[in-house]
Amino acid sequence: MTYKIGIIGSGNIGGGLGKHFANAGHAVMFSSRNPQELQPLAEQAGPNAQVGTVEEAAQFGEVLLLAYPFGKTPEVAKQVADPAGKVLIDANNYYPGRDGQEPGEEMEEKGLLESEWTASYFPGAHVAKAFNSIPAKTLADRAFSEGVPLAVPFGAADQKAKEVLEAILASIGFVGVYLGDLSQTKISQPDEKLYGKQESEEGIRKLIG
Ligand SMILES: NC(=O)c1ccc[n+]([C@@H]2O[C@H](COP(=O)([O-])OP(=O)(O)OC[C@H]3O[C@@H](n4cnc5c(N)ncnc54)[C@H](OP(=O)(O)O)[C@@H]3O)[C@@H](O)[C@H]2O)c1
Repeated sequence: MTYKIGIIGSGNIGGGLGKHFANAGHAVMFSSRNPQELQPLAEQAGPNAQVGTVEEAAQFGEVLLLAYPFGKTPEVAKQVADPAGKVLIDANNYYPGRDGQEPGEEMEEKGLLESEWTASYFPGAHVAKAFNSIPAKTLADRAFSEGVPLAVPFGAADQKAKEVLEAILASIGFVGVYLGDLSQTKISQPDEKLYGKQESEEGIRKLIG
């Protein structure tokens, strides 16, 4: 099964993973506020990749990878015309120095974790949280590996998000370790136990305990 995947934020994370998705046979649209600048990336990614604006990628993708500065979510969400029914994979992390205090205050006030806050801007979407705890270079280097696969801890708000994410991870040679729904994903946020860990499935399961 292959998917149409819109990449929202085609930098370290989105650029690297988008290339893997295209190599695995998924149809990829990289997006940027300046799409013409992404032409070299799309050429590297091969015939399954194209470029577009954020609005175009949001429309193109049945799956969207969110890989931009966390605090830009309200701005990005306005460009995702119809999130309902799409699977969103949230790779973003909250860094107050980069993203401002406002998201932190809102999360605290509403009692939301980072991906729950993100999900609240995309009504009707099937939201998963993945890739956020692993350095971009590791994600770039360890796909399609012949050895022990890299484990990607993830949360998923519902069964559809879980199934699609597991299929996409398998297609690029990673293995998912399911943490639970989004309320169970604190453990993979910045400075928490799984953050920065580059482990096998066994290694991640030991850390989870
Ligand atoms: N780097 C890592 O190792 C790593 C690991 C795990 C998770 N993360 C998280 O993943 C996210 C992306 O990190 P990154 O390292 O890939 O960042 P990056 O290389 O700086 O790329 C971010 C991309 O977001 C786009 N962007 C910025 N503002 C935007 C806006 N208002 N609307 C739409 N797109 C916008 C930029 O594209 P244009 O300027 O072309 O529009 C840029 O290419 C962050 O939340 C980060 O915390 C990073």
